[in-house]
Amino acid sequence: MPLKILVLNGSTRAKSTNGLFIEAIIRLAGDRAQFTVFSSVAELPHFNPDVDIDPAPPEVARFRKQLREADGLLICTPEYAMGVPGSLKNALDWTVSTADLRLKPIMLVTASLSGEKAQRSLLETLTVLEGKLTPETTVLVQFARTKVDAEANVTDAPALADLKRALDAFL
Ligand SMILES: Cc1cc2nc3c(=O)[nH]c(=O)nc-3n(C[C@H](O)[C@H](O)[C@H](O)COP(=O)(O)O)c2cc1C
Repeated sequence: MPLKILVLNGSTRAKSTNGLFIEAIIRLAGDRAQFTVFSSVAELPHFNPDVDIDPAPPEVARFRKQLREADGLLICTPEYAMGVPGSLKNALDWTVSTADLRLKPIMLVTASLSGEKAQRSLLETLTVLEGKLTPETTVLVQFARTKVDAEANVTDAPALADLKRALDAFL
C-alpha cells in the first residue's frame, strides 16, 4: 500500500504558487505515495478553546480524521506580513488538544518571496506539536513565483534538487 500523505496549502488563492509546487511534488513522488490535498484550511472555523470540545465542529472533525489516517503531512505555504498565513496557523491550532501531529512525519515547504520568518515560526510551532521533521525535510523556496511555471514544472534547478532531496527524506 502506498503511503498516505495529507497536504495543507497555506495559500487559499485559486492560482496559488504553492498549489503549483504541491502539484510538482505529487508528480515527483510518482507511485511512492498517495496524496490528498485538504480542501482548504480556510474552511475551518476560527480556533476557540470553548468549542474545542466533543463533538468537534464538523470541518474540524474531518480535518483531524484525515490527519490521523495520514502517514505524513506535507505543508506548502507562503509568508504573509512576515509571518505564517493566519488560515494555516489556525489549522495547526486545532491540532494542539488532540496531539494529532505528535510523531507525524512532516515535509515543510515555504514557497514565498522571502519566507524565512514564516519558516522559522512554523518550525517552532511544529516542534512544540512534536511533529517529526528535520532540516532534510524542510525546504525554503525564495522568489518562488519565478521558479515554477503554469504547468507546475519547477524551472529552477537548485529548487528542484532541494525538493527532490526533501521528498526522498520525507518518504
Ligand atoms: C498580503 C500579502 C503579504 C505578503 N507578505 C509577504 C511577506 O511578508 N514575505 C514574503 O516572503 N512574501 C510575502 N508576500 C508575497 C507572497 O509570498 C507571494 O504572493 C506568494 O506567491 C504567495 O503564495 P501563493 O502564490 O501560493 O498564494 C505577501 C503577499 C501578500 C498578498
